[in-house]
Amino acid sequence: MFWLSLFLVAIVGSVHAQQTAQTRVADELSECYRDPNLLNRNNLPPVTIQVLIDIIRKIEDNPNVNMDLRQLSAVLLHTYRQDGIEFHQPENSMSSSNVLPFAPTFHSFHRHRLLLTRLIPNNLQVLGNDTVSSVLKCTLHHMLSTTVDARVRGDETQCNQLSQYRSLRTARSARSISEDVEIMKPSALKSANRRNGHMRHFDPNNDVEFSNFGGSLSERQVVESTCPLLDGVVNTPWGAVSAGNLIAGIAAGAQPQQVNIYELVRDSTLNYRSVQQTVNSLFPATLSGDLAEAVLIQGTERGSTSISIGTAGNWNSTQATRHFMLQNRVNVEMTDPEIRGDIDGFVLGRSMTSLLGAFSSMKVSQLLDMYYSPRNGAFDPNLRACNRRQLLPQFATSENLISETLAFTAALDTNMPLRGTIVDGMEQLVTSAVTNLMTYTTNNMNDMNCATTVTQSNDFRLNTNLYIALDASWPYTAVFPAISYLIDTIEIGKFGSSITLLSAFDGSVVINTTHSPADFYAEYTLSKHQQILNGVNLETSLNNIRLRMQDQLRNESLAGYVGGNSTVLLYLINSGNLQNNVAIQEHARLLNDTVPDLRLLFASATNQYDNLWSLVRDMYNDIFTINLNQAGTNVATAMQPVLQRIQSVGRRIVNPICGSAFAEGTSGTRQFIDAVEPGYINFYALSANYFYVSDNVNRKIRISRVGAGSGSLIICSSRTNPQPRTNTTSNPDASATSCQTLGASGNVEITLVDACADYSMIGSCPPLYLSIQSNAELTPGSFASAVCTDISCRFPYNIRYQVQIEDLGCWSGAGSVTASFIFILASLYFTLNGSW
Ligand SMILES: *[C@@H]1O[C@H](CO)[C@@H](O)[C@H](O)[C@H]1NC(C)=O
Ligand SMILES: *[C@@H]1O[C@H](CO)[C@@H](O)[C@H](O)[C@H]1NC(C)=O
Ligand SMILES: *[C@@H]1O[C@H](CO)[C@@H](O)[C@H](O)[C@H]1NC(C)=O
Ligand SMILES: *[C@@H]1O[C@H](CO)[C@@H](O)[C@H](O)[C@H]1NC(C)=O
Ligand SMILES: *[C@@H]1O[C@H](CO)[C@@H](O)[C@H](O)[C@H]1NC(C)=O
Ligand SMILES: *[C@@H]1O[C@H](CO)[C@@H](O)[C@H](O)[C@H]1NC(C)=O
Ligand SMILES: *[C@@H]1O[C@H](CO)[C@@H](O)[C@H](O)[C@H]1NC(C)=O
Repeated sequence: MFWLSLFLVAIVGSVHAQQTAQTRVADELSECYRDPNLLNRNNLPPVTIQVLIDIIRKIEDNPNVNMDLRQLSAVLLHTYRQDGIEFHQPENSMSSSNVLPFAPTFHSFHRHRLLLTRLIPNNLQVLGNDTVSSVLKCTLHHMLSTTVDARVRGDETQCNQLSQYRSLRTARSARSISEDVEIMKPSALKSANRRNGHMRHFDPNNDVEFSNFGGSLSERQVVESTCPLLDGVVNTPWGAVSAGNLIAGIAAGAQPQQVNIYELVRDSTLNYRSVQQTVNSLFPATLSGDLAEAVLIQGTERGSTSISIGTAGNWNSTQATRHFMLQNRVNVEMTDPEIRGDIDGFVLGRSMTSLLGAFSSMKVSQLLDMYYSPRNGAFDPNLRACNRRQLLPQFATSENLISETLAFTAALDTNMPLRGTIVDGMEQLVTSAVTNLMTYTTNNMNDMNCATTVTQSNDFRLNTNLYIALDASWPYTAVFPAISYLIDTIEIGKFGSSITLLSAFDGSVVINTTHSPADFYAEYTLSKHQQILNGVNLETSLNNIRLRMQDQLRNESLAGYVGGNSTVLLYLINSGNLQNNVAIQEHARLLNDTVPDLRLLFASATNQYDNLWSLVRDMYNDIFTINLNQAGTNVATAMQPVLQRIQSVGRRIVNPICGSAFAEGTSGTRQFIDAVEPGYINFYALSANYFYVSDNVNRKIRISRVGAGSGSLIICSSRTNPQPRTNTTSNPDASATSCQTLGASGNVEITLVDACADYSMIGSCPPLYLSIQSNAELTPGSFASAVCTDISCRFPYNIRYQVQIEDLGCWSGAGSVTASFIFILASLYFTLNGSW
């Protein structure tokens, strides 16, 4: 407890600042370390860029938070970021409810404190404790706060197998530890250790030297993990990113300032004077901050003359990304995720003035959403995460980086307890660090580049209401990655798809419909999974889900919903030998007839085609066998066919009069507004239920533009191709597709007269497939100002249009009398036979 009391004494004299800048765990964050549920990261949402954006959106949408990007980016750091928090085993395994065995003692805390108190000061209040739920608060804290957890976990033998989880090729030359390690002088160690009661952190020879040192192990743990966990990291398709540096760059860039380095010096003297007098706060907030740490720590503790930059690492799961394991335990001052966060934050910070000039009310979430997207980028296709490697030399010269870093290093030197003193040669160390950063970024950061990104991504986005009927007999560790994969790929989000988790046993709601991935993950924990009734009862669940879907259609009818989202029900089944019978088939048929736009899919662990084919709309394409393993390694391969099927379901256009009863009713003229990104395409489908009979009515769909937006829209329709396009290469049946171009004004009409004349049954008459594509292209510098600024706009460059329906009717697949009659017969049959 010796060191803890030291810290308790230390706060008394600490600067008056936000709690997160103090040398103790901030009160508001302490529950993240005290509550065992929150402390176990497996209970928190995976840390992904989507979850980060989602939580920031929630804060932006909170009615009590009324801040612009400039304020919010700073307040996020002041409220949720506290770098360097480490666990400290209490001595004698004594535990006291008065003491939290965590404190900000890792080296990253010192830069952090300067950041909050001097570089990005903030005289606004921090966000209230109730701004987001505790789970999301702790998740955000862990995404923003850089620290290393070197505790031994017991899974270290698997560390070298982590490469199988790499989503991208990030091969690196193997560096041997001995190359990086310089044996430090025990005397330096001793004095440093005495001086500041400082905790052991990342000393490579700890287990050797500490145990030989004075016969006492001091208060630290002796053994370190060979692959320590790096915290403060979020997963993106372009590598893991330290989100704290990213947000700090945005905050610093939104409020540019030159700070006199004497304001950053702790004891009013600067040991190293031959440096420039001011720093631009963007540098220490991002690149220079980590470079300075590397210089000081490696320079003093290892006596290195070449500063090592870059440490690779990997998540221990491709989908449950919660633990980022470093491949090395030394030279962890500027790891790969920190480099990425630094570059991204620096580039966005540098661009902030022009970005805010183009769109002054841009939100933090929008900026991140644009930068971490496969196409278009932050108003400029160059400003994309996939372009990171090219961006660094474009935005920062080595000279500039060296002089800014040198000045900040001198200042940080006075703030940071070190195990040695650099008396000379700081310039060479800084130059070495900057040079190594440049070469490492060019040679070793093999994240997916923009060309690959474009070929591997779709030019359409989904707006799907996905219902998952889950068989809880799946092991959680196997099915969680599959669900998480769908959440990422169909873009569950405020402006995209939604997810609802149902029980495959009885169809009851396990997790309510949500557009928030963070909320879904916060709910869908192992213990929640274990509470779901095990197994599959198709009869009960299909019936209950049908009732729910019909209810949903009724509600949409009351709300006058004309369309915009597609609906998919996916059964995820682990149990074998499903029962099928006439009653189940009848439920499926009723669902088919009364909810015509719902796509029912089955994915099961074993091939159950024979039991399931009679339940789906398209028996060749709607049933899958998925091979999920408990390690979650093959999830993309296993789920890809299911995903493609979900992607092929077009957004609905409906006549809201029909509901699920499909009594007669003509829609009259109604419309909804939708939007498409430059270069993207939206797909829609209109079921024959809405135009089956031609009764001398001029039934049609009309597309027109809403508001400004560059380029034209190309509207294609087809009766055979669910995703019609102008491009005949990617269009197998070009002759069955017709396209029209819509310029800045006017409209395009698609008439639906006699559209089912050749079909004797509604079920056999194909839907009308429709696509709306933007031919606009964002080019560097082409973006003048935001055209989509409404709250419903995901991106400021979205092009909005209106889909108008005129005189659609209502016809259902089967006469409802017949349907219920058969159903009654079926029920009777089963009742008599005692099978129910
Ligand atoms: C914040 O809220 C949580 C949960 O409501 C509570 O446990 C915690 O004590 C609060 N923290 C502060 C500093 O008020
Ligand atoms: C990843 O590692 C952490 C820490 O050891 C562990 O708790 C978690 O279960 C692991 N996750 C997976 C998917 O293996
Ligand atoms: C359709 O999706 C949007 C988000 O893209 C959502 O706001 C809306 O509530 C959804 N509507 C329905 C009926 O699901
Ligand atoms: C779903 O939401 C409703 C109302 O918001 C709530 O009453 C119900 O408990 C929720 N159900 C679940 C399973 O969370
Ligand atoms: C339909 O609306 C009613 C009344 O608002 C609500 O209780 C019910 O949960 C809604 N149904 C669905 C499926 O959302
Ligand atoms: C659902 O309707 C389609 C036609 O739209 C038909 O081919 C299919 O057999 C039907 N499926 C069931 C289960 O009724
Ligand atoms: C048409 O599609 C093919 C394949 O998707 C693509 O290679 C080609 O570039 C496209 N052509 C145009 C003009 O967009």
